[in-house]
Amino acid sequence: MGNEYLIPFAKDIWICEGLPVNFYGFDYPTRMTIIKLENDELFIHSPIAPTKEILAEIDKLGEVAFLVSPNKIHHLFLGDWKKIYPKAKMFASPGLKKKRNDLVFDGELQNEPEEKWAKEIDQIIFAGSKAVSEVVFFHKSSKTLILADLIENFEKDWFKGWKRIIMPFVGIIAPNGKAPIDFRLSFLGGKAKAKKSLAQMKAWQPENIIIAHGICFKGTGIKELERAFSWV
Ligand SMILES: [Fe+2]
Repeated sequence: MGNEYLIPFAKDIWICEGLPVNFYGFDYPTRMTIIKLENDELFIHSPIAPTKEILAEIDKLGEVAFLVSPNKIHHLFLGDWKKIYPKAKMFASPGLKKKRNDLVFDGELQNEPEEKWAKEIDQIIFAGSKAVSEVVFFHKSSKTLILADLIENFEKDWFKGWKRIIMPFVGIIAPNGKAPIDFRLSFLGGKAKAKKSLAQMKAWQPENIIIAHGICFKGTGIKELERAFSWV
């Protein structure tokens, strides 16, 4: 039997769709990314609400070793996963330790990868925002960049009614999806730092981009990076 919930994205990397969560009155679909490291250890990026069915497929894949929050908005289900996999190491994004002081983290993500996954995954903190510092990851073997909210790219009929009318102006509707306007505005005064981070992401030469909300990009990574980050 093949997997029903874990969708292969490339070799050793899967995505898994979760139920939408409500964010300031807007329904946001959720997506987690799973990377299989050597020794069958699993790196779980932005864990979604765990279900029995999803966990069964995860357990077939390997051992949950790392639970990673890419930014302080993506934290909702970390605690659930840590309860199920107490041996997994849980990593906070910048600012999350303070926000979720009910959780015990094993580490805080830095501007360089943890030694335990550095062979397979690179990372930097995308700098320059006064509001949210997102940690971005690059899975080397599949040349896949993994973002949370730095690009949002919703299908055009995802939002309904008045929300559907305003969302193109927020900048998050495919094929023109990018960081939402409020996130982009938070880089005011920090563009030089953002430029440097963007240059670091481009240097990875990503072929693919996985995002947490909306349509991902396969084979067009560099082109989409240029387009979606032209505001930088
Ligand atoms: Fe998000």
